[in-house]
Amino acid sequence: MAEYYLGLMSGTSADGIDAVVADLSGRIPRLVFAHTYPWPASLRKKIFATIANPGNVSLAEFGDLDAALGEAFAEAAVAAVTAAKLHCSQITAIGSHGQTLFHAPDGPRGFSLQAGDANHIAEISGITTVADFRRRDIAAGGQGAPLVPAFHQMLFQTPDVSRAIVNIGGMANITLLPKHCDTISGFDTGPGNVLLDAWHERHRHGSYDPEGAWSSGGAVSTPLLEQLLAHPYFTQPPPKSTGREVFCRAWLEERIEHCGQPVAPVDVQRTLVELTARTIADAILHYETEVEEILVCGGGAHNEVLMLRLADLLDPAIVESTEPYGLHPDWVEAMAFAWLAQRTLTGQPGNIPAVTGARHSVVLGAIYTGRREAS
Ligand SMILES: Nc1ncnc2c1ncn2[C@@H]1O[C@H](COP(=O)(O)OP(=O)(O)O)[C@@H](O)[C@H]1O
Ligand SMILES: [Mg+2]
Repeated sequence: MAEYYLGLMSGTSADGIDAVVADLSGRIPRLVFAHTYPWPASLRKKIFATIANPGNVSLAEFGDLDAALGEAFAEAAVAAVTAAKLHCSQITAIGSHGQTLFHAPDGPRGFSLQAGDANHIAEISGITTVADFRRRDIAAGGQGAPLVPAFHQMLFQTPDVSRAIVNIGGMANITLLPKHCDTISGFDTGPGNVLLDAWHERHRHGSYDPEGAWSSGGAVSTPLLEQLLAHPYFTQPPPKSTGREVFCRAWLEERIEHCGQPVAPVDVQRTLVELTARTIADAILHYETEVEEILVCGGGAHNEVLMLRLADLLDPAIVESTEPYGLHPDWVEAMAFAWLAQRTLTGQPGNIPAVTGARHSVVLGAIYTGRREAS
């Protein structure tokens, strides 16, 4: 019998709410329905304003935003259930990642904030909701990120081929899945699309560069690339995770100024593609020289220039999207949070201490009971 879970994800790109309905009754998850619901423009504006200047947001404004995001997640969940021709009572649970507004996991009081009050999701949908996945791992000494490697391992590890899974969202993270052993590793490599989006939005129409077309007309600026690669994050050993607090437009503009020569906007865009490709490829090759297949997911899988550069830098390994391997690249992360919700409800850990740096494995998240259980 089918066991339906629903995953809700909005990453650092804040491009929309990815909602998937999945049947998790078997060994391999089955995708039943998936759709990205755009954020209402006013909410998206507030998300970006809060991320850019968290100190300008009062507690009252934060409370309002948290509730409004929760309502938007709930609406996406209900719309997805309806579109999948199911009823909310048939969904065992929702796994809601929330919208990251702040990520500062290092230090004795590490902290990461995913907004979108799950009380509203459980109340509006009536479905039990698991949320706040990151902070228990941080409390156990981890980065709280990345959390997708356990799902990547379950879905993509094989004894025949050494693989790396690359998730290119706003930030990029890798999971290394060697063919011969169970020990896996993974970490955030740095910016994925976040700087590309910010630069495109500033100089062109639209929030991202479709297929990387604009960047393909530019040339890599070596001085600028060197400025960008000099950031200490790239050589810092894992465990590590990062966010917009570190890699943002202000940092990029400061690096451009330091570069000592003018760089045309289109060349900046092309250099940013190179930065993402280089930092991902270097990270993979530094830890796993024998990797044979690189499977790419997240929105960056649609950037043709980025995919070509990854293929060049990682040759002779095969670089492909996850689609031919069983799951479309747009839905891997939301599916992971549906699966993590199932792990939580069944009392199983969701973090991998070797990845996050936590002292031990933990059951992730908080459970907000749906109406069915309460009645
Ligand atoms: N057709 C495309 N061409 C180039 N880039 C794309 C395309 N579609 C999506 N993207 C990029 O992917 C990003 C969204 O990726 P996503 O995996 O949803 O990231 P996040 O998890 O941060 O929300 C967009 O902001 C954009 O930069
Ligand atoms: Mg997204």
